Amino acid sequence: MGVGRLVNTRELRDLSEGEEVVVRGWVYRWRDLGKRVFIVVRDAYGIVQVVASKDYTDSMSFKVAREASIESSVIVEGIVRRDKRAPGGVEIRAKKINLVHKAEEFPIKGGEGIDFLLDNRHLWIRSRRLTAVWRLRQNLFNAFREFFHKEGYFEVSPPMLTQAAVEGGATLFKVDFFGRPAYLTQSAQFYLEVMIFSLEKVWTLAPSFRAERSRTRRHLYEYWHLEAEAAWSRMDDMMDLVSRLVAYTVNRVLETSQEELSILGRNTELLEPARKPAYPRIMYEEAIDILKRKGVDVKYGDDLGADEERVLTSEFETPFYITLFPLELKSFYMKEDESNPGLALAFDLLAPEGVGEIVGGSEREDDYEKLKNRIISRGYNVEDYNWYLDLRRYGSVPHSGFGLGVERLIMWIAGLDHIRDTIPFPRFRDRIYP
Ligand code: 4AD
Ligand code: MG
Repeated sequence: MGVGRLVNTRELRDLSEGEEVVVRGWVYRWRDLGKRVFIVVRDAYGIVQVVASKDYTDSMSFKVAREASIESSVIVEGIVRRDKRAPGGVEIRAKKINLVHKAEEFPIKGGEGIDFLLDNRHLWIRSRRLTAVWRLRQNLFNAFREFFHKEGYFEVSPPMLTQAAVEGGATLFKVDFFGRPAYLTQSAQFYLEVMIFSLEKVWTLAPSFRAERSRTRRHLYEYWHLEAEAAWSRMDDMMDLVSRLVAYTVNRVLETSQEELSILGRNTELLEPARKPAYPRIMYEEAIDILKRKGVDVKYGDDLGADEERVLTSEFETPFYITLFPLELKSFYMKEDESNPGLALAFDLLAPEGVGEIVGGSEREDDYEKLKNRIISRGYNVEDYNWYLDLRRYGSVPHSGFGLGVERLIMWIAGLDHIRDTIPFPRFRDRIYP
């Protein structure tokens, strides 16, 4: 082959009638009408209809077209025809078709149950819907990078193997590190805190691991965590940064991923209000009042779970913050608010439409004695945190940071009702597969 130019299905849309092209991909749909065979070929960017006919397809290729099975890999050489009825507005009249591999009968035919699909995740990955999510994910990752670059943050590379808990012992995965215990990281936060003494403003995008006790629609055991930390930054500065980040990401996804959002059936009108980084802020105490008013059985001091969050999200059209939680509800490293003793300078950002918490952040306790006392009063082993405490001994500075659950953000932006479809290989308790 080699008469036409090799193009993908996205580039194809801008080509004119009569151009000679080569397209390669997998057979997505197939119809044999006797004199003509219609093959819809998919590649990374979309689909295109290929028509084989005795009139213009060489006879060997026409035979091949009739034998092609779903998911066979093919290379097609042909001529562009502009046709409004075809998906993407173009189709290809095939001159030659090379069947690279004839697929066996593909097990996924449509209508299968979730267990079957999860057992065949390595094949289900190819579906148009999931492929749209992977492309959207790429656009989202690009947006993160662009954003932090513009904001003057340094990207850093924290370890995944760690020696102490960031978010408490209950969700730690233990690993055997040459006979000594180590853990899979829950959060890069402490390493980012170390790095701000060298680079001031840092961020990372890396996996985090949580041995969650409960199975829910919004928990993964392994997820991608976008985290940032900045010296000289107070809680309000950090919330402003998070708002700019989320609004920037929503804008970029709306600009780059219309097609993906449409394949996913997302009503993008619902994302419009989030384009501006002005997200409401309520205090924990107000959140409790709203919940009580709505008839939820809660009292001051209760933690807000998924159910409570869902009720709160119905009050807002954009992401919104809950701030100033009672200290004992939050992690040991969070700074106490001097003007509100007993409250932590902590914030959660909740996404609307029932999604709930997508970001957790805070100002960090920067005083050596106070932090050490917190570690002790929570019953943790001070020895494990000596290096973390050291940061408060040599040029301590006010600083803040946050962590954003990438898959939770995708759930909201793409309008998916289960977190498993936001990531190619979700881990499940009963199967680490594939
Ligand atoms: O609220 P979390 O536990 O906060 C931290 O880990 C901080 N150390 C982050 C920081 O300040 N650098 O987790 C942060 C976010 C949550 O808001 C949520 O979006 C996501 O991580 N997350 C999960 N996402 C999917 N599955 C899970 N099991 C998650 N646990 C947390
Ligand atoms: Mg949290």
